Amino acid sequence: MDALEAIAKRKSVRDYKKDQISDKAVAAIIAAGQNAPSAGPYHITVVQNRELLQHISNLALEAMKNSGNEFLMSRAALPGYEPLYGAPTLFLLSAPEGPYSLATTSCAATSMTIAATALGLGSCYLITPKLAFAADKGLTARAGIPEGYEIMCAVAVGYKAGDKFAVERIKKDNVNYVK
Ligand SMILES: Cc1cc2nc3c(=O)[nH]c(=O)nc-3n(C[C@H](O)[C@H](O)[C@H](O)COP(=O)(O)O)c2cc1C
Repeated sequence: MDALEAIAKRKSVRDYKKDQISDKAVAAIIAAGQNAPSAGPYHITVVQNRELLQHISNLALEAMKNSGNEFLMSRAALPGYEPLYGAPTLFLLSAPEGPYSLATTSCAATSMTIAATALGLGSCYLITPKLAFAADKGLTARAGIPEGYEIMCAVAVGYKAGDKFAVERIKKDNVNYVK
């Protein structure tokens, strides 16, 4: 699959099989993240420990329910909703607090989702794991995130199971030309 095809095919997946992805796929996805544009240091943590994934998922779900944000609360109220969607691998992107940290980690995350698509895997850019880290201050150290870094965003990756929790893609009409 070439780059344009992978970009066109990438779509957020919110329903994963339990099967783990290969170490080779993990390495390729990390490389894609590391080759993205950046404006400062950042770190990638690969979480495949089921207990830790479940803990992050539980905390994020609780935080979504209590967020006061209508959209997050309505998602969390869906029967069987899990913020990590059962993905067997979660890439956490962290960086020191700074004006470009979210942009930098999001550039990496986007490249990682495209790489996952090219490898035949499903992926989803996630912001909700941030809520779990806000709720449990010990999580940063438990996940091995470098001192002084904080989680900015995450990417869930795995084999697509189905279309549970799918969100319809809104057709974009957001281009103008100046020639
Ligand atoms: C800043 C940002 C945060 C997002 N956070 C989440 C999230 O926490 N959970 C989730 O399921 N999707 C999340 N998404 C994915 C969007 O819902 C998704 O990209 C959008 O609906 C378009 O669908 P598509 O990715 O299939 O094209 C996030 C996307 C962005 C850009």
